[in-house]
Amino acid sequence: MVAFSSILVKVSNQDSDTRYAAIKKKLPQNAVWSYFDKKAKDMLKRIESFNAEASNCPCEVYLSDSRNLDFLKKEIDLVITSPPYLNSYDYYLYHKHRMLWLGLDYRSAQEKEFGSRNKHSDNHEGIESYVDAVTASVSHISKNLKKNAHFCVIIGDAILKGEIIKMNAIFDEIFLKQGYTKTREIRFEQRKYTRTFTPNIKTKFKESYILIYRR
Ligand SMILES: C[S@@+](CC[C@H](N)C(=O)[O-])C[C@H]1O[C@@H](n2cnc3c(N)ncnc32)[C@H](O)[C@@H]1O
Repeated sequence: MVAFSSILVKVSNQDSDTRYAAIKKKLPQNAVWSYFDKKAKDMLKRIESFNAEASNCPCEVYLSDSRNLDFLKKEIDLVITSPPYLNSYDYYLYHKHRMLWLGLDYRSAQEKEFGSRNKHSDNHEGIESYVDAVTASVSHISKNLKKNAHFCVIIGDAILKGEIIKMNAIFDEIFLKQGYTKTREIRFEQRKYTRTFTPNIKTKFKESYILIYRR
């Protein structure tokens, strides 16, 4: 199902992974089967090599809203996370076809997704609802975090209502309020790594950050 999901946009009329619009495509005969076959075989190879490396690391995967992690009973040694980039993306929308095919509920994903363009551009939410969502997530995760453990965040600047928002400052405030200290900040220009970058005077100053905090 994961292999099937990964080829869905390519073999459907959806323009791309980051554009939910129908376009006409010229696909080769038998495209679904041949792409699926290639993808599934590639995934099997990767799974085997990953398992060979990671066989001693038991792993559990949960699907949940990060603002409610009460079911997590284990102590956490380290957090590495990349929250949604404010007003940059609509995950529920770009993955809508995939979710429908996989029997998942995209409406619930839409409602729970924070930072989405749907919330901030279509429905004009301000930055406060984003800060509240990140704060709630950090505070839930912090309950189970070991003392002196690191919390690493990958995040990028945003544009909201035409203004650039420096996200390192926003995250510093959220984390310092919850008793963390910052141990490191690595920054780089967003356009260096984003192919979909559209040059304009504002995006020119967008940076991404790796922010490391400790409690
Ligand atoms: C910048 S992406 C990071 C993706 C991830 N690091 C990866 O490599 O696949 C942000 C992710 O946060 C997810 N997200 C949005 N709202 C969420 C919520 N309330 N709880 C948990 N995850 C959420 C999005 O669906 C998206 O997958």
